[in-house]
Amino acid sequence: MKNIVLIGFMGVGKGSVAREIVKVSKMVALDTDDIIESMENRRIKKIFAEEGEPYFRALERKVARWLKKNVDNTLISTGGGFYKVPNLKKVGTIVLLNAPFDVIYRRILEHPNAEKKLKKRPLFQDIEKARALYEERLPLYLKVADIVIDVENKEIPKIAKEILKKVKLK
Ligand code: S3P
Repeated sequence: MKNIVLIGFMGVGKGSVAREIVKVSKMVALDTDDIIESMENRRIKKIFAEEGEPYFRALERKVARWLKKNVDNTLISTGGGFYKVPNLKKVGTIVLLNAPFDVIYRRILEHPNAEKKLKKRPLFQDIEKARALYEERLPLYLKVADIVIDVENKEIPKIAKEILKKVKLK
């Protein structure tokens, strides 16, 4: 089977869904932000602060090239801006987790670690800027996605099941 690549806005639940898919299938998972943090031996927040966003985006492109060459049969969760790397579709089947901005924001705020979740995301420091980024990206997410999963009001296990079913039909 090809890789499954989860894309979507910050906080939409890519990580939680990836962990659930690992639990209920034989797939193993990788996360592009985790790979970047290990490559750099520092947190995303620090990479943004010390090197700036273009440096981080170059790392994402490097990870995408590596995934294309070396990784198969894997569930890959990505950072919210990873959808922009060239030839994303060559990495695997692209699955967009989709929800309105306010639903995503509420999901973060309701989390017991909400403050930490917001703090670690440099592009979620100002809510109106984050909302504008969401509006700008939504059509681009939809364009690159092979499969769109609406996640509003759905429990994580249901989302995972839906993804596995739809990917098999592709
Ligand atoms: C980003 C999303 C983050 C992380 C970085 C940039 C983005 O990942 O890659 O802070 O551009 O949307 P999450 O989507 O896991 O928050």
